[in-house]
Amino acid sequence: MTGTGPFATLAAARRSVRGFRPDPVPRAVVEHLLETARTAPSGANLQPGKFIALTGAPLRTLIDDLAAAIDTNRPGVKQYSYFPDPMPPHLKARQRAAGFALYAALGIDRRDLDGRRAQFRQNYRFFDAPVGIVVTIDRRMGAGCYLDLGMALQTFLLAATDAGLAACGIGALATYGDVVHQSLALPPDDLVICGLALGHEDTAHPANKTRTDRAPLAEYAEFRGFAS
Ligand SMILES: Cc1cc2nc3c(=O)[nH]c(=O)nc-3n(C[C@H](O)[C@H](O)[C@H](O)COP(=O)(O)O)c2cc1C
Repeated sequence: MTGTGPFATLAAARRSVRGFRPDPVPRAVVEHLLETARTAPSGANLQPGKFIALTGAPLRTLIDDLAAAIDTNRPGVKQYSYFPDPMPPHLKARQRAAGFALYAALGIDRRDLDGRRAQFRQNYRFFDAPVGIVVTIDRRMGAGCYLDLGMALQTFLLAATDAGLAACGIGALATYGDVVHQSLALPPDDLVICGLALGHEDTAHPANKTRTDRAPLAEYAEFRGFAS
């Protein structure tokens, strides 16, 4: 049943893109994507979260501030915990598989720490995309509100794919949430959840050859009481 219908085709076409052409994305296009993202449902229609879209000088300033912080070698200060800590082994295996798929596409050997570090730093350059978006949520929100924001994020990613654009979530941005917070002078109660890189895919960029798979449905879902 997979792959039928325009929505399934769109959902299957979306993937994380980490190499972009420099062509700008006009404000009206970014607004359209965010208006579409806002159609996502949310518990009690709270519509939690905020998207701060940056391009040009404001994006460069944030990237420069992140580079300066990373250059000091001081660890980042997360504003929330994205992943379980410690990571259970079966999830660690999935994380490693995703990482190795990216490194294999880039031709970076697993033991090439400098190569891996260089790719890590690309997160903090928004993969040189023309648009970087910082996604925040008010720290007083409940866990369910993070679900709501996730739905808006996926709607955004699908809208970008539908518009012929490419994007990648950047959870790594949260690792230096304190730097982002200060650089953008965010309100005290806002937490940096993730970033989004947005632009036109550079189809020749090796990172964009990365392909991921998914765990079997049997690991993901249970079916009880179905007659057929
Ligand atoms: C919220 C979110 C945060 C992500 N953070 C990062 C990140 O920091 N760096 C990165 O290279 N990819 C990041 N990704 C991309 C995931 O690695 C990717 O979605 C996953 O490996 C599945 O691949 P696909 O998106 O191509 O289907 C993120 C994705 C999402 C949805």
